[in-house]
Amino acid sequence: MNVQIVSDKLAGGQAGFNVFQQAITNGAKVLGLATGSTPVTIYEQLVASDLDFSQLTSVNLDEYVGLNADHPQSYHYFMQHHLFNQKPFANSYVPDGSNLDATAATHEYDQIIAENPIDLQLLGLGQNGHIGFNEPGTYPKSTTHKVALTSSTIAANARFFDDADEVPRYAYSMGIGSILQAKQILIVAYGEAKAAAVAAMIQGPVTPDVPASYLQTHPNVHVILDEAAASQLH
Ligand code: F6R
Repeated sequence: MNVQIVSDKLAGGQAGFNVFQQAITNGAKVLGLATGSTPVTIYEQLVASDLDFSQLTSVNLDEYVGLNADHPQSYHYFMQHHLFNQKPFANSYVPDGSNLDATAATHEYDQIIAENPIDLQLLGLGQNGHIGFNEPGTYPKSTTHKVALTSSTIAANARFFDDADEVPRYAYSMGIGSILQAKQILIVAYGEAKAAAVAAMIQGPVTPDVPASYLQTHPNVHVILDEAAASQLH
C-alpha cells in the first residue's frame, strides 16, 4: 500500500483529486465512488476542475435498503448533490434501494459491475474497519449482497438523520470480492476515531475481523490519511 499523509481534509481533497486526474489521464473509464463525509472534499475538487465525465461511467459502492433515490438521506441523492448534478457521467449506477427483492437487486448490480469493470475505486473506512458496508465477518470473496448494518455503523450514521430510529437497518453493498476486482483503489480516512482501523488495515493481519485488511492483498492501493488517522501506525 502506498500511504500518503496530508495535513487536513482540504489537502486530502487535493491529493485525492490528483489520483483521480492521473487515473483518467491514464484512460480510466469507470470510476467507483463512495458516499459519507470522507469523499466530500475530493468531490469538491472534482466539481471545481475542468475534468469532463460525460464519457465516463460511475458505479457506487452501496445504498440503504428501503430509501428511494429521491430520499435526502439516500446515497443516490448524496451523489446527485455532491457530484452528478454538477458533473454528469454518461452512466451513473447506484444500487437500487427501492427494490426490496434483494436477490434481484444484488444480481442486477453484479451484472452492472461485470459490464463496467472498475478502473479506480474510492473508499472511505468505517471505524470498525468496514469498506462499503462490508462489516466485520464478511466473506472476502463476497459480491453484491444485502447487509444488516452493525449497531456501531447505525450509530455513526445517525448524525445524518433526525433520529437514530430513522437510520435504515439494511443496505445493499458491493462485496469485498467486487471491490478487490477494481484495477486501482484509493482509500481515505481522517480523524482520531479512524486511527485503530487504519493501523489494523495497514499493519494488522489480513482477517475478516477487519474487512479493510483485505486491501493488503491488492496490488495497487493508495491510502490518504491525516495525522490523526495515521497516529496509531508504527
Ligand atoms: C459509503 C461507504 C462507507 C463509508 C464509511 C466511512 O459509501 O461505503 O463505507 O465510506 O462508513 O464513512 P465516513 O466517510 O462518513 O466517515
